[in-house]
Amino acid sequence: MHRGRSDEEGFEAGGGDAVRGGLGACGKGGNDTTATKDGAITVGFSQVGAESEWRTANTRSVKEALAAPEFKLKFSDAQQKQENQIKALRSFIARGVDVIAFSPVVESGWETVLREAKAANIPVVLTDRGVDVSDESLFTTLIGSDFVEEGRRAARWLVEDSKATTAPVRIVELQGTVGSAPAIDRMAGFKEVIGADPRFAIVRSQSGDFTRAKGKEVMEAFLKAEGRDGIDVLFAHNDDMAIGAIQAIEEAGLKPGEDIRIVSIDGVRGAFEAMKAGKLNATVECNPLLGPQLAQIIRDVHAGKPLPKRVEVEEGVFTRDKAATELPNRKY
Ligand code: AHR
Repeated sequence: MHRGRSDEEGFEAGGGDAVRGGLGACGKGGNDTTATKDGAITVGFSQVGAESEWRTANTRSVKEALAAPEFKLKFSDAQQKQENQIKALRSFIARGVDVIAFSPVVESGWETVLREAKAANIPVVLTDRGVDVSDESLFTTLIGSDFVEEGRRAARWLVEDSKATTAPVRIVELQGTVGSAPAIDRMAGFKEVIGADPRFAIVRSQSGDFTRAKGKEVMEAFLKAEGRDGIDVLFAHNDDMAIGAIQAIEEAGLKPGEDIRIVSIDGVRGAFEAMKAGKLNATVECNPLLGPQLAQIIRDVHAGKPLPKRVEVEEGVFTRDKAATELPNRKY
């Protein structure tokens, strides 16, 4: 595979190599494919960070798809900080890339920089996470999962799994990054479903920032606050936080998956291993392998083809009984 066109290693927001050929003769997003001397489409991609197994798989998928000779990738890791993403986006604009793609760490605060991209005539493709903007023309399309539906799916699993009981079900929730689309939407979808059934109550809810370390730390605090017998269910917005929490539950002398039922989101390999070991009850799939679809969208955007405002990804729900069979098939 051609690997000479990505300057992800050396690229820093505001610095790094110049894009060969600069802005090219035609405006961005038109039919021109001669923005670089060798005809490649220059893409500036700003990634959230490396906070989870999901993100690592997503980064790999994007880099592999955009390693094709028709692209020249400028990759920037924002380390979960919006200010780093804004700097990266401004750097992409200054360099005159053909297309900007990014996964916004949080939903709000993008209007100004997206207006700058629009003024420079550079199309913006959102991947994975959405933004909250008053003017939808500030981005071309969003490719990603339906996070509200993922929250609903987790809750539906819980309702089904609780059908034998009339007793109250005390839930603790590990939220993702505060202000991020998946945290906001998964919480909303989950609450929508459990809110219809008076047995369910969320007794504690706090952010674990989508990381294992934070998931463990916050679960320890939940256990301390609620006591060994005070929690029936953990809903974690991603598998990594659930895996961290499993450790905290075990260290508290409890059996994860039995004493505390656990449902999380992503469907990464680590979650399947935890399900196989009986420690996690269910995971709702969130597919990170967006690279090939993103590459096609970039081709289309660059060729000036019309695109739907939203491109969704197909996903399922997996439970413990399917873990051992499904594990060898997992690609992330
Ligand atoms: O935006 C997708 C979410 O971000 C994934 O569920 C989580 O694991 C990641 O960090």
